[in-house]
Amino acid sequence: MADAYFSFLTLFIILPLALLTFLYFILRPRPVRIPIKNRHVFITGGSSGIGLALAHRAASEGSRVSILARSPNKLEEARNAVKLATGVEVAVFEADVRDYDAVKRAVDEAGPIDVLVLNHGVFTALELEKMELSEVKFTMDVNVMGCFNMIKASLPAMKNRKDPLPASIAFVSSQAGQVGIYGYVAYSASKFALRGLAEALQHEVIADNIHVSLIFPPDTDTPGLVEENKRRPELTKIISASSSAMKAEEVAQKAFEGIKSGSFIIPCNLEGLALSIATAGLSPQRSFLMAFAEVVAAGIMRIVALCFQWTWYDSIEKWHSQRKGKLTRSS
Ligand SMILES: NC(=O)c1ccc[n+]([C@@H]2O[C@H](COP(=O)([O-])OP(=O)(O)OC[C@H]3O[C@@H](n4cnc5c(N)ncnc54)[C@H](OP(=O)(O)O)[C@@H]3O)[C@@H](O)[C@H]2O)c1
Repeated sequence: MADAYFSFLTLFIILPLALLTFLYFILRPRPVRIPIKNRHVFITGGSSGIGLALAHRAASEGSRVSILARSPNKLEEARNAVKLATGVEVAVFEADVRDYDAVKRAVDEAGPIDVLVLNHGVFTALELEKMELSEVKFTMDVNVMGCFNMIKASLPAMKNRKDPLPASIAFVSSQAGQVGIYGYVAYSASKFALRGLAEALQHEVIADNIHVSLIFPPDTDTPGLVEENKRRPELTKIISASSSAMKAEEVAQKAFEGIKSGSFIIPCNLEGLALSIATAGLSPQRSFLMAFAEVVAAGIMRIVALCFQWTWYDSIEKWHSQRKGKLTRSS
């Protein structure tokens, strides 16, 4: 009886407490709070969808907000919408993130940035076989090079800011940046690239009190998603149905909660949280409670991940055999 009691105590109390204490001391970077009130929040792709919801949120929390996108009409509409809803005048900048000189002019005019949200993005769900290489290049240029251009243009002033408060660079990735999905060959490649960029960049900017975040939204109701749905392959629809769609406002709320708490990985819903634990890898973690969850759940999450792969490959197999059946009947 005493042995059983001691085993129970060791397994459920002493070991977890020892692990929590160990994690508390080793976790780097250290926890941080990044205020956004009265600070300059610069959002790329802020004229539509998630970016517009981020602009609304930042304005309603008292930030000075700048947004950047290509279409002047959409920028004007966004400025009016935020003004109407929050009373805040948003600064708008017309530029293509692929054009470094245009981006640099916009950033210089906007003034030093405290929180840079790299939200711009293009997405087409299409099999590589049916995609032109020019479309692949376009996706990589906007989603990846666009981020490099923005960071290169903004970083010198961010590093030299007079404000002693911590600053942030946040990337809007996607759940397709955590797991490769049928039809997202180019998009997943571009969003996976952001992870490497973010992890390495955090090493380089930590000494300047700049903290990097990666936001992983699931399907989100936006004009961009409406467009994407027009070409989305059947199998992409079947596979991505395992994660439910969110509203842009909900994603914006989760994004700013994560940015303000300095989280490196920011999931947006429960499935996203599970996905983030399953794909934690060597990414930084500031919360010892989250680190504890990652360590304890690692084995189980691998089993869950393998079950997902099983259902996805099963769907792909069934879809192909149905298609072959139809072709044989019609010939
Ligand atoms: N919606 C989803 O289901 C979903 C899910 C996961 C992740 N995401 C990510 O979330 C981000 C926003 O997506 P969204 O659905 O809100 O898209 P959206 O409604 O299409 O908005 C995209 C924004 O990016 C701007 N943009 C596009 N290309 C640009 C360029 N070359 N230079 C400057 N700005 C550019 C657009 O304005 P202009 O066209 O006027 O330039 C617009 O403001 C993207 O990074 C996307 O990958 C979306």
